[in-house]
Amino acid sequence: MAKPLQIMETVLRDGHQSLCATRMRYRQMEPMLAALDSIGYKALEAWGGATFDTCLRFLDEDPWERLDKLKARLKTPIQMLLRGQNLLGYNHYSNDVVEKFVQHAAAHGIGVFRIFDALNDKAALECPEKPEVQGCLVYTISPVHTNEKFVELAKELQEMGCHSVCIKDMSGLLAPYAADDLVRKLKSALDIPVELHTHCTSGFGHATYLKAIEAGVDIVDCALSPFSCDTSQPCTETIVAMLKGTERDTGLDRQAMTPIAKHFLAVKAELIKEFGLKGYFDVNVNVLDFQIPGGMLSNLANQLKEAGMEDKYQDLLDEMPRVRKDAGYPPLVTPSSQIVGTMATFNVMTGQRYKMVPNEFKDLVRGKFGRTPVPVERDFIINTLGIPAEQIIEDCSVEDAKAETFAQFKDELIGKGFLNPPDEDVLSYALFPQVAEEFFKKHYTQISAYRRQ
Ligand code: CO
Repeated sequence: MAKPLQIMETVLRDGHQSLCATRMRYRQMEPMLAALDSIGYKALEAWGGATFDTCLRFLDEDPWERLDKLKARLKTPIQMLLRGQNLLGYNHYSNDVVEKFVQHAAAHGIGVFRIFDALNDKAALECPEKPEVQGCLVYTISPVHTNEKFVELAKELQEMGCHSVCIKDMSGLLAPYAADDLVRKLKSALDIPVELHTHCTSGFGHATYLKAIEAGVDIVDCALSPFSCDTSQPCTETIVAMLKGTERDTGLDRQAMTPIAKHFLAVKAELIKEFGLKGYFDVNVNVLDFQIPGGMLSNLANQLKEAGMEDKYQDLLDEMPRVRKDAGYPPLVTPSSQIVGTMATFNVMTGQRYKMVPNEFKDLVRGKFGRTPVPVERDFIINTLGIPAEQIIEDCSVEDAKAETFAQFKDELIGKGFLNPPDEDVLSYALFPQVAEEFFKKHYTQISAYRRQ
């Protein structure tokens, strides 16, 4: 007997990250939390990704306080997206910062950690709260990535203790028949549940889910209609309706979703108006070549607009795969997506390739973030980018040893006059130093009082 399909709802995180540059505020979520909680979702993704950064940077919200408020109103497990050793920022953090972050996130209510590079980050598995830990197969297309290799990685994730695996197709590259093959292979190789996360950027979304569902996928990620499709996830109500009366029927009440969708449609209109966003993206099958994650496209389009370079959009999309090849085919997922995207933007802006090279790109190719799937040509590193040979990193653990510790971040914060900082604030600061400092300047008395309640 086939099991009902489970749905993980993304309206509170990836949905608005992909269509509205992550600008949804807590107060816009709150009126629907009770209704969302009663639907019967497997989990609600509501934290992590870019939400932490945008809370502090644009929304004047404390991300920890947002999590507490969500937790107080939700029994459905709250899921977060974590970039392993990079946490939510763009740096490599020391192990004690990673451990503290995971422990506090779990203590504040995260029930499911979805981790990009789980192989490098066991902190969540060792967390005393015992959250569900989900390892990711970061799906990408390149000459070196095959379904067989993804299955091997999935087996490693299972072995290290992950409770489930997620095929994380952040750019919507997974074609329906490829999904069928991959899910079948995973289901026969693994004992733990398989979840699928995609974006509709290429237009594959719903078809890919249907083939994956037929192949036995356990959970799919969907967004309620106003925050679905385009560069976001397939639509929750559509998937529920599609399976009605079949052996994979979700059992969820589609009618109960209508008032929630109505509310979020109004929220989307508010966000588009307040932040001058476009709010939708045309399906573009060429994402199969440029491979930009849905969560990044809306930001990239915004950046080009601000630089008065809207007409260069296509050039940029063409340049992305070339830069990615030069950089050893990293999967385009944060932070590598931002780094490759910025490099491609500079190439297009200056009209000369690799004339201006940001430090983060140099760090990526010289191995600071770990090994790339294909080794980067030494000639490219040394002669094109002008990086001295001795800066090429062969062993990443050396870099880890150099990373700033939790105690150092805490001292730094105290040195700036924020006395007696609670751990959560040290973590906010470790992740986004300048942004957190600005935020603390405005709200420190308030938030430290809140933490000590
Ligand atoms: Co996503």
